[in-house]
Amino acid sequence: MTVTAARRAMTSEEMVRLSKQHTFFSWSIQGAVDPIAIDHAKGVWLYTPEGSAILDFCSQLMCVNIGHGDQRVVDAITEQATRLQFVQPAFVTEIRARLGEKLASILPGDMDKVFFTLGGAEAVENAMKLARLYTGRYKVLARYRAYHGATFGAMSLTGDPRRWPNEPGLVGVVRYPDTHRWGEREPRPVEESLQGLEDVIRYEGPHTIAAVFLETIVGTNGVLIPPDGYIQGVRELCDRHGILMVADEVMAGFGRSGRWFAIDHWDTVPDLMTMAKGITSSYLPLGAVAMRRHVAERFETTMFSGGLTYSSHPISLAASLATLRVYEEDGLIERSAALGPVMRGHHERLAARHPSVGAHRNLGLFGIIDLVRRQDPYTPIAPFGGTSDEMKAISSHLREHGLYTQIVGGSIHTNPPLCISEDELAQGFEILDAALEIADRAVLG
Ligand SMILES: Cc1ncc(COP(=O)(O)O)c(C=O)c1O
Repeated sequence: MTVTAARRAMTSEEMVRLSKQHTFFSWSIQGAVDPIAIDHAKGVWLYTPEGSAILDFCSQLMCVNIGHGDQRVVDAITEQATRLQFVQPAFVTEIRARLGEKLASILPGDMDKVFFTLGGAEAVENAMKLARLYTGRYKVLARYRAYHGATFGAMSLTGDPRRWPNEPGLVGVVRYPDTHRWGEREPRPVEESLQGLEDVIRYEGPHTIAAVFLETIVGTNGVLIPPDGYIQGVRELCDRHGILMVADEVMAGFGRSGRWFAIDHWDTVPDLMTMAKGITSSYLPLGAVAMRRHVAERFETTMFSGGLTYSSHPISLAASLATLRVYEEDGLIERSAALGPVMRGHHERLAARHPSVGAHRNLGLFGIIDLVRRQDPYTPIAPFGGTSDEMKAISSHLREHGLYTQIVGGSIHTNPPLCISEDELAQGFEILDAALEIADRAVLG
């Protein structure tokens, strides 16, 4: 049987059975997975082999920012794959030259050089390595409500419970306080958060600290948008102590928040910035670490001790350059910004109708709704790092009604592709509206 014939014949049931039999799933008890089979996708819609349509309200893992099935990116991949598939990273290619130049033109401030990786975690690993080599110091500060990837170093930086089974981690990772305490509706005052960071820097010894890592807007751990002044305050503390500021924009970058990079909202330039996901809209794997000129210059005369067989992979780079053109041609960054207030309107309507909505946040099309069991005192509907019967029931309801999104603890992410129409956005929120009745029934007092 040819591969094509086998593919054409496969039903959802067969895909699930064989995939479960022979392949491993991320973050799962293998015997408990219940995957959905997808045959193809277009725009914001995923289609099962049997033809059912599912609205992608999370751009998969907040990464297919331009939407599915864009022929312009597919053509660029095909063209590059036809011309040159691979050379090792010591060679250069036209696509590498062009994408490097293009990224330099959209990166904040004087960042104008990138090291290409295969994804977000590898970008984080290499940012950590660059910061240590640059400063000659070894400690890295990171927060609890943070995800930085699943490789060993990135997992050590990760503060959320996904770290627990992977401990002990890297020596030298030290936590500093989050802008938002779990289980509270509002962020801490900026001064308090910054004081917390300053205390940690003092107690650890600034001369031992290479870098302060932060997701500019925290992603999976709650779309936590820092209050104005926080990002600038972190920059100032890093400057004062000769510590590199590393912004992780793997999820927040590439238009998700309505600007090219989330950090642009606060007119701040980090020393290093990690990227992935939206850099190709995940049509092919790619990540990057961007660096400011002063960092890049150091490595003109200092050895960079790092490398990856697939760094600057031509076909991934072609997918990226074409994706960046789509953002521009279709005005998707501006579109994300313009749809931000529309999403907020939907969030507000849900909050007004449902006693289970405790809080909601969004910037551009980066959004989330937090559900509660009680408004006062504020009590999340699921425990920290866990789930609840209501959240499981909401998850099943959304699946039955053709809406895919990420549910983390008691929170529902609302992060559709940036090409979503206002009608499609409304359609998604209509499905959520009905699902929230499940949570409403659990509200006490
Ligand atoms: C902020 C952030 N950093 C790093 C990563 C890791 O990226 P990857 O899964 O491509 O390794 C992620 C993935 O979700 C992320 O959200």
